[in-house]
This record gives sequence, structure tokens and C-alpha cells, in this order.
Amino acid sequence: MEPISLNEYLSADNIWTKRLLGIESFGQVRNCEQIEREYNQDFYGKIAAQFRNCSSINEILQYASLQYANSNTYISFQDEIFRVSSIMANQLKATILKSKLEQYCSDYICELGCGYGINLTLLDGNVYGGEYCNNAVKLAQQLGMEVYPFNYYNMEDYGIIKESSTVFTCHSIEQIPDARCVIEGLSKCRDKIRCVVNFEPTVIHQRKNFLGLIRNRYIELNDYNRNLIELLQKNKDIEILEYNTDVFGINPLNPFNIIAWQFKS
Ligand SMILES: C[S@@+](CC[C@H](N)C(=O)[O-])C[C@H]1O[C@@H](n2cnc3c(N)ncnc32)[C@H](O)[C@@H]1O
Repeated sequence: MEPISLNEYLSADNIWTKRLLGIESFGQVRNCEQIEREYNQDFYGKIAAQFRNCSSINEILQYASLQYANSNTYISFQDEIFRVSSIMANQLKATILKSKLEQYCSDYICELGCGYGINLTLLDGNVYGGEYCNNAVKLAQQLGMEVYPFNYYNMEDYGIIKESSTVFTCHSIEQIPDARCVIEGLSKCRDKIRCVVNFEPTVIHQRKNFLGLIRNRYIELNDYNRNLIELLQKNKDIEILEYNTDVFGINPLNPFNIIAWQFKS
């Protein structure tokens, strides 16, 4: 793991540098049409087509690790940036998720916005998930995982949550610019939820240093989530159990925070 200066990381070679400086234009509206294009058709659609007859997630994981076997990437811990192998970057993300979820486990563990279930494969016990993209849901089911169609914006979809579940999310509320629907949906089945653990980036208004301001700007340009932490902190029905900022970035411009919380009884 090699430490890298911010100057080196945000050099002209980084496609985000010119966008963040406004030298190249970039801006997106993150709605369901965008998710359909970016994730369902482009990302999951291609994987699903390639693994049409595959029934083991290990084949997909092996393929992915061959793809990036020799490649390097950047990661971050808080404001420190490092160059690491892509394999190590993914292993670090997996280790953090697994150890944190072991701390907050209940009878069931549910991931919302789980894609084709890659995070669920890290966990032992009764795991299930919900996901918007039908290509990812189909692929997960083909691989033997319990993954249901789920859209954060549809209140009735939160009905997939089972009694005594830890609900977690990882870079999926990121895709919801305004998280009010998420809190409302979860509160409808609050009696079934033991706790919620979010591994999510969001705008943090307290950020004051250069990297922090650049991270907030990155979120705005991508139309990622702006208000998850604010909503949780000001909700009188919610008790925050843990809140750590900028814990780990598989993309240093978009690190996840860890927020563990529960509805007050
Ligand atoms: C960056 S990926 C993260 C996938 C997975 N959680 C992980 O950590 O690898 C974002 C995921 O959020 C899902 N997503 C986006 N909008 C959603 C919505 N409205 N409802 C449910 N899932 C959504 C996407 O389809 C995608 O699977």
C-alpha cells in the first residue's frame, strides 16, 4: 500500500480533475431513468449476458479478479490516499463490511440496493436483499440468492423486510439524491428492523479542507445523495449508534461513511 499525495492523485491524468475544476463540463440528473441506463442496461445487462448459464457467483468473481489482476487503483482511509492493487482494494472493502455487520447482526441480514448480491456472499447466516435493476435481480436469483425487486421510491417495496432484520446499504442510498423516501419507507416497517447500517457517501456540510470540499462537489456533479446524515441526525425517532465519516473510499472522491442507527422503541 503506497501513500500518494493529493497533488499526485488529482493530477491531469485523473478524469475527475478537470470536471471538478469546471474546465470540462459534467453534470447528471440521478433518477430512475439514469439508473436504468447506467446500471440495468450497461453494467448488469452486460454481466448478465456474459453469464447467462452460470450458476455460481465464484465464476463471476474469478472473472472479475482476472480482469483487474494486474491493475492498480487508489483508495482512501479518511483523508489519506493510497495506491493499491485492485484486488486488495476489494478485499479491504469486504473486510470492513463483514466485520462491521458481524457487530450489528440480527436473525436476518438484508441489503437494499444489493446489485446481484456480491456483498451478501461475504456474510454467514440468513441473508437476503432487494434491488432495483431487473437484470441484477435475475442474475442474483440465477446464482441461488434470495434477492427481490425493490425500489427505494416505492413505499410498498419495503414489505420485503423480514422480522428481526439488520438492514444495510452500501453505495446505494448514494444513488438517491434526497433520502426522505428511504427513511419514510424504513419507518413503515420499523418494528421488524433491529438496526440499520449505512456504508454510504453523502454531502457533509462540516467538511472544510480542500479534499472535503472536492468530495462534496463530486457528489453534487453526480447528483448523489445530499442529506442522509442530516435526516438521520434531526429525526427524533432515531437513535444513532455509530457515526464515522470518510471511513473507506474504493474511490477516494466518494468514500463511505459508516452510520449505524435504530428506531427508538
Ligand atoms: C454503486 S451500486 C452498489 C451495489 C452494491 N450495494 C455494492 O456495494 O456493490 C448502486 C446500486 O444501487 C442500486 N439502486 C439505484 N437506485 C435504486 C433504487 N431506486 N432502488 C433500489 N436500488 C437502487 C443500483 O441498481 C445498484 O445496484
